[in-house]
Amino acid sequence: MQSFQLYERASTVPETSYTRGDWRTGYESLKQEFDYWIDHVEGQIPPELQGTLFRNGPGLLDVNGQRIHHPFDGDGMISRITFSNGRAHFRNRFIHTAAYLEEQKAAKILYRGVFGTQKPGGWWNNAFDFKLKNIANTNVIYVGGKLLALWEAAEPHRLDPYTLETLGKEHFNGVLSEGEAFAAHPRFDPSCAADDGASCMVNFSIKPGLSSTITIFELDLTGKVLRKHAHSVPGFAFIHDFAITPNYCIFFQNSIAFNPIPFAVGLRGAGECVKFQPNQPTRVIVIPRTPPQSREQDRRNSRGVQILETQSGFVFHHANAFEVGDEIVVDSICYESLPEVESGSDFREADFDALKPGHLWRFRLNLKEKTVHGELTVDHCCEFPAVHPNHVGRPYRYLYIGAAHAQTGNSPLQAFMKVDLESGERQVWSAAPRGFASEPVFVPRPGSEKEDDGWVLALVYNSEHHRSDVVILDANDFSQKPVARLHLKHHIPYGLHGSFTNEVFA
Ligand code: CO
Repeated sequence: MQSFQLYERASTVPETSYTRGDWRTGYESLKQEFDYWIDHVEGQIPPELQGTLFRNGPGLLDVNGQRIHHPFDGDGMISRITFSNGRAHFRNRFIHTAAYLEEQKAAKILYRGVFGTQKPGGWWNNAFDFKLKNIANTNVIYVGGKLLALWEAAEPHRLDPYTLETLGKEHFNGVLSEGEAFAAHPRFDPSCAADDGASCMVNFSIKPGLSSTITIFELDLTGKVLRKHAHSVPGFAFIHDFAITPNYCIFFQNSIAFNPIPFAVGLRGAGECVKFQPNQPTRVIVIPRTPPQSREQDRRNSRGVQILETQSGFVFHHANAFEVGDEIVVDSICYESLPEVESGSDFREADFDALKPGHLWRFRLNLKEKTVHGELTVDHCCEFPAVHPNHVGRPYRYLYIGAAHAQTGNSPLQAFMKVDLESGERQVWSAAPRGFASEPVFVPRPGSEKEDDGWVLALVYNSEHHRSDVVILDANDFSQKPVARLHLKHHIPYGLHGSFTNEVFA
């Protein structure tokens, strides 16, 4: 059963649901920094919705007119939407990383990007230059009184949540060394047994090589590191996200190979040297959350690191995971192959029809039998999953995710989909033909008991007016029109990840 509630002009939605020209304008830089109360609102902002939505993503797609090669190389910009007493306030600010300040001063690209951005002057000007910029553009979280902008290859940047001013790099009291990686995908365990049921933040870092090191970090909500343990796994690991359960961290080691030579000699970015290996299996790495030194007391975790195998494929993001007896269930967005970053190609000319869509798969890992059973659950192009925060690592029923307008094929995200994983029912709210979607965030209604009682918040880019909207959907029923649409005065370039906190900053 599916219900499609379309954007105002549903009858005019063309066959393809979008034009590349419209989609592309969402990738223009936003150079201005704003600070204002949002006055242009359709519908009503629920007064019980109190708190702050933070978003991060590339704000600059060029440096003084010199275009970057891939959006992932764009300087991080924080957007903050504060909800208070039925009103909303907007503020955005660039993260003042050292490289951002240097490049803005020089008014030109000074650093190579991981995804192929090169300094001007050809390959000989880029060869053997391994200095990459920490662009802090992937996620933003508020934890322990600190607002942190995350980028997976280096340490977070700390910001003032009120002014969004950059305060410096965060090393968690020396737990991270200068430049040490800290992934952009922390998971918040709502109730950690090792901490008497307190909530904790679990994150990781990857040090890739011929064999790779995965380090697990667990922090309490004051930002203090409680547990840190490192594990060596065979092969080159390119891992962006992971999933947690009460007892395990789960990583999918995609079947790829890395040839560093074109990067070293200045021909390609490091991210362009990753090649998908369609005939190799995906390795599923299961690491107990209990550190090895305290594992003897814990019989359940005595097995140590386990590596299982499943069919080849590529996963950026996991929706959630949970334990059932000897099995771990993992829901992930899977691609048949890795969309390679082609050097020399312009991402603005992307041919969506030639690329494989992401679909939702459910993997059952049997730790006793050492088997993985994968099953396609949602064959509708989708990406950027979100779940109720109290169900992270636990059995859950509802998933919210960015989706294509059309049920089949591959295209930019223009809609949001709610999936009932028990009944299989899907509901889609679409902003097609001229609207483009992003990562949704689920916010529970205060005092709610039902898993889908709350709101789904997201930014939608409206190409018709070249501005963005903050859309508030009733999570209980996507088939209704949004609870509210907040029209910003400008656009926000397509972003990556963000989060919601109940704290109000304005
Ligand atoms: Co991500």
